[in-house]
Amino acid sequence: MKSKDVVWHKTAITRKDRNQLHGHRSLILWFTGLSGAGKSTLANALEARLHEESCATIVLDGDNVRHGLCGDLSFSADDRVENIRRIGEMAKLFIDAGIIAITAFISPFRSDRRRVRELVANDEFIEIYCRCSLETCENRDVKGIYKKARRGEIKDFTGISSPYEEPELAEIIVDTDKHNVEECVNHIVARLESFGTFHKTLPEGSAQQG
Ligand code: ADX
Repeated sequence: MKSKDVVWHKTAITRKDRNQLHGHRSLILWFTGLSGAGKSTLANALEARLHEESCATIVLDGDNVRHGLCGDLSFSADDRVENIRRIGEMAKLFIDAGIIAITAFISPFRSDRRRVRELVANDEFIEIYCRCSLETCENRDVKGIYKKARRGEIKDFTGISSPYEEPELAEIIVDTDKHNVEECVNHIVARLESFGTFHKTLPEGSAQQG
């Protein structure tokens, strides 16, 4: 519970200043999908592409964040809610820092994803659904965890003993069982361009060229 005695302190340098420094808008690119659907792979490949374009980025990845900030959380429904709440707040801080936050979390519950969406402005949350059948994810089983889950060695496993709620509102869908990494990244970048995500923010008073 937030105390009544906690007062917001305004910073001298604003988010707009930071956006101008970086030369682009900041926003959250939120990957969701089953374990093994390709979220981390695509988040990293997308970051590499944006980095080449001199964008300031960060990838927040479920497995990594659960080593530190969320290392105290399990995969119970309540802990997943708290996991996504913390990530949402953290991603929002990165938006304030003028950085494009690319997140890769299963984030299985629609209500949690909606809560993060509501934390920021309308066009600052872009949901990217890594669509891939459970069967394909299970066949890939890169980390061997589906086998463990089927043997009952991991409880509350998404897609097996815990639900995954498909997005109804995803701005971008990539079918990772039909397209390779490059094709998926091309599709994401093209969609982002169509949303005007990469329009340069210009210093105050300067006229837009061309
Ligand atoms: S989330 O549901 O809270 O969004 P998150 O993305 O942080 O999950 O973590 C998912 C990763 O944790 C998976 O890629 C997998 O490597 C690992 N993991 C371990 N146990 C589970 C489980 N019970 N369900 C899903 N993923 C698990």
